[in-house]
Amino acid sequence: MKIKGTEISGNIFLAPMCNVTNLPFRLLCKRYGAAVVYTEMINADAYLMDSAVTKKRCSILTEERPVGIQMFGSDAGKLAKAAQKIEHDLAPDMIDINIGCPAYDVMKNGCGASLLKDPVKLGTLVKKISSSINIPLTCKIRILPNDQDVMDVARVIQGNGAALLTVHGRTAKQGYSGKANWEVIRKIKSGLDIPVVLNGDITDGRSAKQAFEMTGCDAVMVGRAAIGNPGIFLEINSYLEGKATQTTLQSKISALLDYVQLSISLGYTDILPMKMQAQKTLKGFEGSGKLRDSISRTESIENLQELLASI
Ligand SMILES: Cc1cc2nc3c(=O)[nH]c(=O)nc-3n(C[C@H](O)[C@H](O)[C@H](O)COP(=O)(O)O)c2cc1C
Repeated sequence: MKIKGTEISGNIFLAPMCNVTNLPFRLLCKRYGAAVVYTEMINADAYLMDSAVTKKRCSILTEERPVGIQMFGSDAGKLAKAAQKIEHDLAPDMIDINIGCPAYDVMKNGCGASLLKDPVKLGTLVKKISSSINIPLTCKIRILPNDQDVMDVARVIQGNGAALLTVHGRTAKQGYSGKANWEVIRKIKSGLDIPVVLNGDITDGRSAKQAFEMTGCDAVMVGRAAIGNPGIFLEINSYLEGKATQTTLQSKISALLDYVQLSISLGYTDILPMKMQAQKTLKGFEGSGKLRDSISRTESIENLQELLASI
């Protein structure tokens, strides 16, 4: 698959996720075979104001390329300016616009999924950003209650210079519940020329294979199933190549310890994302209740490492 002339090897992407897809996690997913990784969404206005927190959120390394930086905002001019500055400062492989976040605080300011409501305004915004940068602009949307409406949005995005479209097959109202609607994504894929990435409910090799077969999408994007299990990229790629790779609790713990170590060495020393990954890794494993309890109470990274190593 090519994104505006850039050849991408592989077709399993890591989804942008707030407080999850930080630099150490993206690097780990890359090592396990993610074809493209995205930063968590950053506020375009905050980037323009040189916010240190925002800059850390989109700090990237060569090893994780191709990497996309995702931004959110509502003002076309500011988004274009931020995109130019990001291209100049960081030279990511692509910049992505968040057109799907359903969070109240994001939508009330006209950002995220609220951009889906006005395709004309959205078209102007996409045009302004795509024509301001040399690297590809990608967009990530959610579906709408009416299929025709989301088809119109997808065509507007393509027509105004986006190089790739990711579609999360849930409406903003659905949040993260209910089943992702892949049928709409099939329709969008068949109506567009740019690559279409399917997102929603990719949880293993089987679901990835089904998604490709059912929709003809160019790639699939994994979100929640990667939390606590970055090895999912190896698992899916192996399955698609006809080789079964069983992810065990031990291999997940080992990846988790690597994540903690990588976080420390890269200066990401906030324990909360580590604890969240650990909780997700251990969820569902018999007898892990006590351990999860201890993890939720620990405030030291060393203690967290000891708890994990004791499994
Ligand atoms: C904790 C969390 C944070 C998220 N943050 C973002 C974000 O920053 N940008 C974005 O476009 N989507 C975000 N999403 C949505 C995911 O990218 C993805 O669209 C969604 O989880 C559906 O995919 P899944 O079914 O594979 O989880 C987030 C989802 C979760 C669970």
